[in-house]
Amino acid sequence: MQNTFHKMNMVFASPIPVYTIADHERINAEILKEIAERRKAEEGMVHSNRSGWHSDLDFIKRPEPAHKELAQKIMQCLADATRRVANAKKLENLRLECDGWVNVNPTGGYNVPHDHPGAFWSAAYYVSVPPAPDGGVAGSIEFIDHRSALPGQGLVASPYMRSLHTMKPAPGTLVVFPSTLKHWVHPNTAEEERVTIAINAKIAVDPAKMRQAQQQAAHESNRTLPDPEAPAAAAPKAVAAPKRKAAAKKAEPAKA
Ligand SMILES: [Fe+2]
Repeated sequence: MQNTFHKMNMVFASPIPVYTIADHERINAEILKEIAERRKAEEGMVHSNRSGWHSDLDFIKRPEPAHKELAQKIMQCLADATRRVANAKKLENLRLECDGWVNVNPTGGYNVPHDHPGAFWSAAYYVSVPPAPDGGVAGSIEFIDHRSALPGQGLVASPYMRSLHTMKPAPGTLVVFPSTLKHWVHPNTAEEERVTIAINAKIAVDPAKMRQAQQQAAHESNRTLPDPEAPAAAAPKAVAAPKRKAAAKKAEPAKA
């Protein structure tokens, strides 16, 4: 007798939804010009980036047309990603609160391992990804499992049990991931700059929608409350249970 395999449960998975942004070639060309203008005027800041330019955290609110258009499209994808992972049927009272920034990594630029505390989703959008001269992983994003590696994991080489996952998305790609998932960016070895947009999205209750939902619920509840002045509502009509089918009588032989 053989043992029976039922199913492989995948628990504590890290969903990493990936999107291609519509019309990304035009948007990328336009946004590169806008970023070049911003760099003339803005000093930038240092976070996880080593060398290069990191803009202020105002990507979502920027007035430049391509910034604005891209921010809208990214937020649409984040809303879609939330629907895809959610069990809850009602997400309409929630909203995504996003911020974002531009990362420019020149030759040798990279981002040290980090996560994005305080957010639900994080995302990286790829504007410009110069190919590594040696075809290797330079410029790639690498996700790091924060659980310690299993002894013997490397020998088994299972796709379900590994500590690193490397991706090198093409321009126009949006990679979304849980914000607590650690990651880093390999040094850019190309001569051209690597340009990406990073996004953080918090999940919050939308006060306006929540108020609206409460008002609606109260309204519906009032409609169904009995009016004390009205005559008592008719009780549900009693109906007889359907007759059971009588057992078929044995046919008696016809009497002569
Ligand atoms: Fe990051």
